[in-house]
Amino acid sequence: MSEDHQEPEPVVGILGAGRAGTAFARTMLSAGIAVDICSTRPPKALQHHLKIYAPGARPVWPAEIAERTLSQGPGIVVLAVPQEELDEVDPQWVSGTVLIDATNTWHHEPLPGWLQAAVDEQLPSSMAIAGRFGTAQVVKALNHISHHEVEQAAAPHAAHEQRRALAVAADDDDARGQVMQLVSQMGFDPVSLGPLPAGRIMEPDGPLFNRPLSRQDLLRWVR
Ligand SMILES: NC(=O)c1ccc[n+]([C@@H]2O[C@H](COP(=O)([O-])OP(=O)(O)OC[C@H]3O[C@@H](n4cnc5c(N)ncnc54)[C@H](OP(=O)(O)O)[C@@H]3O)[C@@H](O)[C@H]2O)c1
Repeated sequence: MSEDHQEPEPVVGILGAGRAGTAFARTMLSAGIAVDICSTRPPKALQHHLKIYAPGARPVWPAEIAERTLSQGPGIVVLAVPQEELDEVDPQWVSGTVLIDATNTWHHEPLPGWLQAAVDEQLPSSMAIAGRFGTAQVVKALNHISHHEVEQAAAPHAAHEQRRALAVAADDDDARGQVMQLVSQMGFDPVSLGPLPAGRIMEPDGPLFNRPLSRQDLLRWVR
């Protein structure tokens, strides 16, 4: 087949180029997924940081984070910005995407009012994020594994039963399925928890957080 007829490379956008964002980027790049990534810094200023922490990732402006993934597929953006900064993230940047909420609530962080209100009501933070980013389909995933472990635990060539299991929760079945496919491509065994509120067990005080679980172990916590 000539080059003209090659399928475009799948691209995922990552909002946040810190510890988590760059660990996800390296793991995706190793799995053959192209990555657009942004931070508060202009793309040019981000270039040097990416050479060290996520070589091969393409720095973009935040407002461009969804462009390539929406046009080339699969239309997924990962939110890897601390929750205390979320008022600075414009929901328009991720409009029309499947938005992976990889964030966590830390009680020392001063939260935006809309998020603090949900936390005070003991709701999962992803429900508040789904309300805030209402033009995206929010899927809770990738938040319960540490950046130290992502690359080393990823085993894209291993059988699913030998991989580390990672949970995925979302109200929309198609969006949840797309994220499960990405998690699998990255080298994990994706386990559906069902709707977004079920993702409560993925949070820092929950039983899945930072624990290397197999699918069977993980399913013990699912009701
Ligand atoms: N660290 C982990 O092991 C891990 C694992 C899974 C999930 N998480 C969760 O992921 C979130 C981020 O954690 P982290 O450890 O990666 O934090 P971090 O190392 O502090 O990195 C945060 C990144 O977000 C960027 N950022 C902040 N405001 C932004 C904005 N308005 N627009 C675009 N980018 C913005 C920062 O930009 P600059 O670089 O320009 O400052 C930085 O690149 C937290 O909720 C955390 O709980 C963390």
